Amino acid sequence: MLKLCHFSDVHLTSRPLGWTARDVLSKKTPGWINVKLLGRGRRFKHADTIAAALRRDLATRGYDHLIFSGDATTLAFGSEFATSAKAILGDVTQLPPGIAVPGNHDFYTGFSVKEGLFEQHFRPWLQGERVDGHLFPFAQKLNGAWLIAVNSSTANFWTWDASGAMGVDQLQRLHALCERLDDGPRILVTHYPLRAPNGKPERRTHRLRDHAAALEACKACRISLWLHGHIHTPYVLPAGNAVPFPTICAGSCTQTQRWNYFEYTLDGRRLNVQSRRFDLAAGAYKDDFNTHLTLP
Ligand SMILES: [Fe+2]
Ligand SMILES: [Fe+2]
Repeated sequence: MLKLCHFSDVHLTSRPLGWTARDVLSKKTPGWINVKLLGRGRRFKHADTIAAALRRDLATRGYDHLIFSGDATTLAFGSEFATSAKAILGDVTQLPPGIAVPGNHDFYTGFSVKEGLFEQHFRPWLQGERVDGHLFPFAQKLNGAWLIAVNSSTANFWTWDASGAMGVDQLQRLHALCERLDDGPRILVTHYPLRAPNGKPERRTHRLRDHAAALEACKACRISLWLHGHIHTPYVLPAGNAVPFPTICAGSCTQTQRWNYFEYTLDGRRLNVQSRRFDLAAGAYKDDFNTHLTLP
């Protein structure tokens, strides 16, 4: 039996952000206008308080493993990574082991990717078996299951482009990695959804661009479950004809009124999914809806 915690889309920010001339000339400027003037920032006004409540739960609820599916920051400033890593990881020796993948906001510009800011700040949760020294994908063995981290975030040129991709090379490495794994459910962790809540691929500017190739790779790799974030409302899609494994979106753990994370209990192939929703008056997460799945 495994008890896991899956949270996503923390989207912390910092003051001061530490603007450089390069930042001003990049898409961080329209991104900042969106945060400050167009309302995005207001949706995360309780984020620091909620992150502290999340950190308490991560340390005290008896988890075997923690799963973070990306968007640690708002605009991928170094100062935001430092704030987010401190709030989530803190003294990481006080936490169960974890696994993490970057979100599109962590790869907001090409230079935030090139500088390896996500890697630097979340290194304790980026340990595992890899292929040819590449950072992604990598696999962590749990007691009777595998967690497989795949990066699906890319630095996009346009501010309005929030799409992502896994890429041909990474999917080939995923094949090579999965050939080495022994039995047990294979749980893929990535930022992007394979399907929106309506069961269809997301709209073009928000979707995983190579979702069809990713699905074929996951079928070949016998993936049992796809965990993700990116969409800020939580939802659970059971296995069906088109996608032969369940997919679960943790939602945003810090966005006002959406504030959710999931607590999983995995017993063999049976997965109990417990929603944990933030209660502002209590200053703590509380149990919300619950559902059961059987993994292929
Ligand atoms: Fe997000
Ligand atoms: Fe995202």
